[in-house]
Formats: sequence, structure tokens, C-alpha cells
Amino acid sequence: MKILKTIEELQEVTSSNKTKTTGFVPTMGALHDGHISLIKQARNENEVVVVSIFVNPTQFLPGEDLDAYPRRDEADKKICEMCKVDYLFMPDISTMYTEEEVLIKAPNNSYVLEGKTRPGHFDGVLQVVLKLFNLVQPTRAYFGKKDAQQLTLIQQMVKNLFLPIEIVPCEIVREKDGLALSSRNVYLDETQRKDALLISKALYSAASLVGKSELKASALKEKMQEVMQTLDVEYIAVVDRNFNEIEKIELKNSIILVVARFGNTRLLDNIWL
Ligand code: PAF
Repeated sequence: MKILKTIEELQEVTSSNKTKTTGFVPTMGALHDGHISLIKQARNENEVVVVSIFVNPTQFLPGEDLDAYPRRDEADKKICEMCKVDYLFMPDISTMYTEEEVLIKAPNNSYVLEGKTRPGHFDGVLQVVLKLFNLVQPTRAYFGKKDAQQLTLIQQMVKNLFLPIEIVPCEIVREKDGLALSSRNVYLDETQRKDALLISKALYSAASLVGKSELKASALKEKMQEVMQTLDVEYIAVVDRNFNEIEKIELKNSIILVVARFGNTRLLDNIWL
């Protein structure tokens, strides 16, 4: 595996691999089994695999956990080696951004849910993802369904800007007890970790109601609220795959999303129905 730090190094790799299929997994590091599953899928489906690790400052709001965000470069390098990554791109902030830069504006549907709580977050996400796409020029790029709104906005950006990239949505990876994997799970203390299980429990109970033909969003939310009554739930939302709120589940076109707070830590989870 080759570690690349500069734009020039990455561009050289991109142009020398022009005739090969390239799978790209952009990350902010602190790699866990969720990232590993994305990398493995990229490895299976492409001739060349590029992973990036960059804690992108423009997607953090003032007061968020940019400085505290877990950084585990050495462990991450070993994980990438083990997953047979060909190139690991680890740029500095000054490599990725000039001082005065106009941020991309994410579309209006980025200002609901996550984008409402974290205004501007998706502008930063799309900015860095577009820069990385331009540099890597991948055949396919892999994103987890856990960040459902991010995934949707990236799919829309690729479509709107005619980028010749296939976006591959990947299933959420969970601990055995149901907790969705996230780099932010390390912030949870023992009690919070235990309480957090109610999130997936609530999602499963909603899915089970849907299995019994209860499609009304209000009934599903009520059930989930009951399961999570001891939690500080920020929102429960039932949306279609374009992130429009819906009153009734449309099978194969719906997502139920939850965000709950545990102290300063926000955990996101969802289920695609
Ligand atoms: O999902 C993430 O880890 C980040 O938002 C991404 C896509 C790597 C952009 O910084």
C-alpha cells in the first residue's frame, strides 16, 4: 500500500490508473468494521482501491467535536494494509483547502433533519467529496446507509453535475447487540452505551409493525417514542428516499430516521423499508 500526502502524488496515481476500475472509500478515519465492509466491497468490485482519511473541517460547525474527533492514523494504516488497499490518501488541511474558498451550497433538501440541526454541514461534506472525486476520478464510490441524508445528497450531486461515478450504498454494520457502528461510539460511557441500544430496538419495533401492515408514520413514531421514552430523542422522521417527510410508509421507498443525544454525543440510526 502506498500512502499519498499531496495532490500531485494522487493525480499521478489517478492518471496512471485511467484504464482500470477504481473503487473509492472516503473516510474521516478512526476506521471500524463499518468502514472495513465498505473497503472490502470496493476491493471485490474494482481493480484499484483508494481510501482517503481526512477530518474535514468545513463539515463541522463551531463548537462541534472537530478537535476531539478520534484520530488513529497508525491503526488506520494497518487496517487499510490488511484490507489490501492500494492507495491511502491522507492530506493536511492546507493541501485540501485554500484560505479563501467559496463553499458549495447544498440543495434545499439539505436543510431538513441533519441539515437543520447542523446548518452548513452538508455544504462542507459536498465540498470535500467533490474535491476528492475530482482528484480520484473513481469508477465507484462507497458510502454507508447510516448517513442516509449524506448518501442521498451525494447521489443527487453526482446526478446533477453529470459526474461519471457510480455511488454504491452499503448496508449499516451493527454490533451484535444492534448498536450501529460509528466513530463517535467511543464517546459513550457504559450507561450511555447500554441506553443507546434502545435506538435500534425502536427501529426494529417500527419495522415489525410495518411487517404487520401498520404503515402510518404517526403510529410508527408513537411506538418508537414509547420504546425510547427514557432517551433524549432529537428527532424521529419518516421520509421517502428523497427526504420528503411522508405520512405513510411507501415500501421500498422509505427510511425511518432517529437521532438521540447522549450528553454531547449525537447518535444517528435508521432503517430502510
Ligand atoms: O462520512 C464521512 O465520513 C464524511 O462525511 C465524508 C464522506 C468522508 C466526507 O468528509
